Amino acid sequence: MGEKIIFATGNKDKMREIREILSGIDAEILSMGEAGISLDIKEDGQTFEENALIKARAVAGQADGIVLADDSGLEIDYLDRQPGVYSARFMGEDTSYEVKNQALLDCLAVVPKERRTARFVCAVAAVFSDGEAFVCRETVEGYIGERPAGENGFGYDPIFYVEEYGCSTAELTREQKNEISHRGKALRAVRKELEKRIGQGGSAV
Ligand code: IMP
Repeated sequence: MGEKIIFATGNKDKMREIREILSGIDAEILSMGEAGISLDIKEDGQTFEENALIKARAVAGQADGIVLADDSGLEIDYLDRQPGVYSARFMGEDTSYEVKNQALLDCLAVVPKERRTARFVCAVAAVFSDGEAFVCRETVEGYIGERPAGENGFGYDPIFYVEEYGCSTAELTREQKNEISHRGKALRAVRKELEKRIGQGGSAV
């Protein structure tokens, strides 16, 4: 096993997704906890890219190897791209998504479908031990539906609809969501960049 890749998260679902997408790369993939790192990082960037880099650089300061970090959120065009980088903090971290989603639906109550466009954005930063870094940013385009639907996924998934499937992302299976999602696309873009720099043994996901 060559390199060590640390993903700056404690989230188990994100770790499973990153392990799936990076499988076959000649590296050991560790969560922050597995790497013995515990940090409270202030995400005070103005963009997803800045926040992902802030997290990756903070962890890279404490670790050997390549550090990856992501930042994601929902941009609603009618609301000037809010909640954006505040997606997790919108209305307070402890407020349920049932309440947050209903509040967003209320803001858009009289807005016609063509003006309800929205996207999930994900930026994934990679920082190398020599300080070199890159960021991949990807989106999934969609619109805010008229009502919440679906039980899968998390966060804003029940109100975010995609034309391709004609349903909310909370109605997609995990495989369908990973295929089209901002995070899946950004992680696959990162894999391509990493393959240029380190060895690979398996096939791309
Ligand atoms: P973070 O990147 O883990 O900090 O996520 C930021 C926030 O964006 C999450 O807490 C959710 O509110 C929202 N978010 C990001 N990706 C998704 C998604 O795929 N579905 C639903 N909500 C998402």
